[in-house]
Amino acid sequence: MGTITSPFKDPSHHSLARKLLPYTIYVILPIAVLRLYLYTPSLPQSTDQLPHSTAITISTTSSSSSSPSSLPPFPSSQEVETGEETPCDYTSGNWVQDKLGPLYNGTTCATIKKGQNCITHGRPDLGYLFWRWKPKQCHIPRFEPNTFLQILRNKHIAFVGDSMARNQLESLLCMLATVSPPNLVYTDGEENKFRRWHFSSHNVSVSVYWSPFLVKGIEKSQDGPNYNKLYLDQVNERWAADMGQMDMIVLSVGHWFLHPAVYFEGDSVLGCHYCPGLNHSEIGFYDVLRKAIKTTLKAIIERRVANANGNGVNVIVTTFSPAHFEGEWDKAGACAKTKPYMEGEKQLEGMDAEMRQLEVEEVEAAKANGKKFAGFRLQALDVTKLSLMRPDGHPGPYMNPFPFADRVQERVQNDCVHWCLPGPIDTWNEIMLEVLNKWNNQGR
Ligand SMILES: *[C@@H]1O[C@H](CO)[C@@H](O)[C@H](O)[C@H]1NC(C)=O
Ligand SMILES: *[C@@H]1O[C@H](CO)[C@@H](O)[C@H](O)[C@H]1NC(C)=O
Ligand SMILES: *[C@@H]1O[C@H](CO)[C@@H](O)[C@H](O)[C@H]1NC(C)=O
Repeated sequence: MGTITSPFKDPSHHSLARKLLPYTIYVILPIAVLRLYLYTPSLPQSTDQLPHSTAITISTTSSSSSSPSSLPPFPSSQEVETGEETPCDYTSGNWVQDKLGPLYNGTTCATIKKGQNCITHGRPDLGYLFWRWKPKQCHIPRFEPNTFLQILRNKHIAFVGDSMARNQLESLLCMLATVSPPNLVYTDGEENKFRRWHFSSHNVSVSVYWSPFLVKGIEKSQDGPNYNKLYLDQVNERWAADMGQMDMIVLSVGHWFLHPAVYFEGDSVLGCHYCPGLNHSEIGFYDVLRKAIKTTLKAIIERRVANANGNGVNVIVTTFSPAHFEGEWDKAGACAKTKPYMEGEKQLEGMDAEMRQLEVEEVEAAKANGKKFAGFRLQALDVTKLSLMRPDGHPGPYMNPFPFADRVQERVQNDCVHWCLPGPIDTWNEIMLEVLNKWNNQGR
C-alpha cells in the first residue's frame, strides 16, 4: 500500500527519523489528550480490579512431555469439551531471575529483523535475557519447540496484524529453528510484509500477513491524504481471502489505531481521529479498534467456522503491547532501564489498560457467539501486564548497529515499542504454547 511513515514498518533505511516522528506525535499526544478528556475515574487502577474471569487461564497440569503420536488433531466438530482443569491466571505474577537464558541468539537465528537484533547491534547489558515470567499460581515451562511443531503438524499458523505480530512471529521462528530449519517458501518482496515458512520436519507452515487494522484500510501515503482510511465493517481481504487455509490465526494489532484516520462504516463516515481541516467529528480510537476486532472475529466465525469442513480453527488475540518511552523518543535514555519492574511497581492504567480491556471484552463476546461451533477455539493472549513490567526489553538505541560507536550522542533514535530478540516477547509464545497444550488436553 505504498510507502508510509511509521515505525511499524521496516525501519532499515535512513528515513527512519521521518518514520518514528509521526509515531511519537500520535502516540504520546493522544495519551496525554486522552488522559485529559477520556480518562475517567472509573478506569481500573490496578490489575487486581481487572476482571479475572475474562483472563486466560491455563492448566496447572498441562504437560509438554506428552508423546507426539498421541496428540489429537485440532478440534473437530465431533469433539466434546471436557471439564476445566484447575485454571491458572497467568496474567498475575512476577519476573524472576533465571540463569538458563534464551533458547537462541542472534548468531543461531537467521530470521531476526535487524532493528530487533539488540545483541548483534552492540547492546552492552545482557541481564534482560535472564528473567522468566512466574505466575502466582503456576509454572510456565520453557518453550518446547518439538511440542509446538507436533501440535501444529500438518497445520498452518498465520500471524495477522502489525509489526507486533511480526515481532511475535520472529520470536517463534527463532525458537522453532533450534530444532528444525524453516524454509522461506513465499515472500512478496515488499518490506517483508507477507511471508511464509515451511518446517518440512512436521509439515508446519508459519506465515505473516501485514494488516495493521485487520479491517480494510488504506494507509496514508506521500502522494495521498495524510491520514489512514478505515472501513470498519469490512475485513481486509489481503489476509482474509486465505482464511480457508489457516488452522490457527494469531491476531495482533493496536498501535496503528493511534494514527490520524477517517473511519467509514457502510456508506457513511463515522468520524475521525486527528483530522483537523476535515469536517468530521473526533471519535477517538477505542471504539474503532473495538469495531475492527468485532468485524474480524465475526468474519472468522462466519467464513471459517460456520462453514467448517470438519476441521476447526484456533484463534489467538494477542493483547496490546505497551510502549515504554520516557520523555522524548530521540533523547538518549528514552527507555534505558535494564531490569523489569517488580510486582506493584507499575500499574496497568490509561491507554494500555483500555486497549487491553476492550480486546479481552471483544474476545469474550465472540467466544459466546461462536460457542455453538465445536471447532472454534478463541482465546486472548493477555500479555499486556507482563509486558508492561519489562521496560528493559526494548531495542532503544540498539535498533541501529552500534549507535554510540563514534561518540556519546544527545540525540539518538530509540525504539521503545518493539522487543529485542531474544527477549521478553519469547514469553508470549511460551504462554501461547500453554494455551495450545490446554486445548489439546481438553480434546482428549
Ligand atoms: C549463540 O549460541 C551459540 C549456541 O548456543 C553459542 O555457541 C554462541 O556462543 C552464542 N553466541 C553469542 C553471541 O552469544
Ligand atoms: C501439509 O500441511 C497442509 C496444511 O498446511 C495440508 O494441506 C497437507 O495435506 C499436508 N500434507 C501432508 C502430506 O499431510
Ligand atoms: C460540516 O458538517 C455539518 C454537519 O454534517 C454541516 O451542517 C456543515 O455544513 C458542514 N460544514 C462544511 C464547511 O462542510
